[in-house]
Amino acid sequence: MLILNFEKFPVLETERLVLRAISIDDVDEMFQQRSNPEVMKYIVRPILQSRREAEELVRNYEFLFEQGISITWAMSLKGENKMLGTVGYPRINKENYRGEIGYSLDPVHWNKGYMNEAIREVIKFGFEELRLNSIEAIIQPENKASSELVLKHGFIREAYIREHSYFNDKFQDVEIYSLLSPR
Ligand SMILES: CC(C)(COP(=O)(O)OP(=O)(O)OC[C@H]1O[C@@H](n2cnc3c(N)ncnc32)[C@H](O)[C@@H]1OP(=O)(O)O)[C@@H](O)C(=O)NCCC(=O)NCCS
Repeated sequence: MLILNFEKFPVLETERLVLRAISIDDVDEMFQQRSNPEVMKYIVRPILQSRREAEELVRNYEFLFEQGISITWAMSLKGENKMLGTVGYPRINKENYRGEIGYSLDPVHWNKGYMNEAIREVIKFGFEELRLNSIEAIIQPENKASSELVLKHGFIREAYIREHSYFNDKFQDVEIYSLLSPR
């Protein structure tokens, strides 16, 4: 079984970004991003209503890492601390060495290639350090930015599940994309 026990949070670097632990200093950005309907349009999580909810979310990310349950990074530009977005494996199925990748970015920074850079490193980390065997992405069919992103990284669309999730008072279809370890 996969074990997630790092002595300290693994900081990753890309050409322009640092991927680091989410901390209480990120509450304002977390609130700003997760209360933005544009960001949350295809994310099956409740839109945040208050700064206090953002603080709970940040604490939860810390807890999930400390308990070895899952890992999510904050993305910052090199030389700056401000959190531009998040990326990680919010759900890890340890018995099956399978991680679900998730990501979101402040719309001010969309289409600059940042998530492309970030997930390249997160996928590498997933296979090489976490020892995942497969990574899945669960994407709403209309979320082309997200499906195009994972396709660029070699994911394959494996399923279209009708009425997979009940959210915002309706049943929503999803597509499942996945990538197998190159091992
Ligand atoms: C999905 C998201 C993270 C993409 O981030 P991004 O940094 O803008 O993506 P990048 O600039 O790195 O683009 C990488 C690739 O994704 C695809 N892409 C990104 N935005 C796109 C869009 N609006 N339409 C189609 N393809 C798009 C392209 O293939 C692009 O490669 P290219 O620039 O060489 O054509 C961003 O749109 C976002 O935060 N969306 C809201 C949150 C969300 O929906 N998360 C996913 C839930 S499943």
